[in-house]
Amino acid sequence: MLRVRTATEADLPFLLELRNDPASVRFSKRGVLSAAALKEDYLRRSDKHAFVVVRTDGRGAERAVGYAVFERLGEDRAEISIALAPAARGRGLARPLIQVASAHAAEHHGFAVIRADIDPANTPSRRAFRGAGYRPVPAASVGATAALERYELRVASRRSGAGPRDPARGLARPRPAPPPRD
Ligand SMILES: CC(C)(COP(=O)(O)OP(=O)(O)OC[C@H]1O[C@@H](n2cnc3c(N)ncnc32)[C@H](O)[C@@H]1OP(=O)(O)O)[C@@H](O)C(=O)NCCC(=O)NCCS
Repeated sequence: MLRVRTATEADLPFLLELRNDPASVRFSKRGVLSAAALKEDYLRRSDKHAFVVVRTDGRGAERAVGYAVFERLGEDRAEISIALAPAARGRGLARPLIQVASAHAAEHHGFAVIRADIDPANTPSRRAFRGAGYRPVPAASVGATAALERYELRVASRRSGAGPRDPARGLARPRPAPPPRD
């Protein structure tokens, strides 16, 4: 099972290692970040919300497996960035990570539309975002150096008359995460 919690200073080494992993850098818009830049970016900015995604084994043991960062773009819009720790990749965890983090961010920060700009070469990311309910949208020009594809998740609004907000609405139905291999 995956759980989301707000990132703290204690998470900075984990976040830095993951953020500057070559695979993350390859698909990031900004390249390698220094520790100071990452701290400022993920923990100090009022328009960014960084979450650590933790895997629990049901017996109380927890392990951080990835992060999701949401940058507010407007009153109820945000852009998501994610990464999984290298040891946690290739196990089908990306989709549930996106789902739990998007639902959490929508619920706690009022996001109604969350977008992801994805390099078309990043097949696991594209598949995971699609599986999590994100849909491709036209974007005139995305990304300075690469032609990125834009995906959006529309989260049901409290004002829609549908009753209390269910942050999972609009998200694809969660499937259980695969069992740990270690
Ligand atoms: C992107 C990232 C989170 C994906 O996680 P992952 O563990 O590699 O992917 P998963 O094992 O969860 O697989 C996701 C989907 O991609 C598919 N997939 C995984 N590797 C693949 C490959 N090499 N080729 C084709 N499909 C692949 C899986 O089958 C799965 O598809 P499905 O849900 O339709 O079954 C991870 O690779 C990562 O952290 N990369 C570095 C940072 C990054 O790229 N972030 C995203 C920027 S937009």
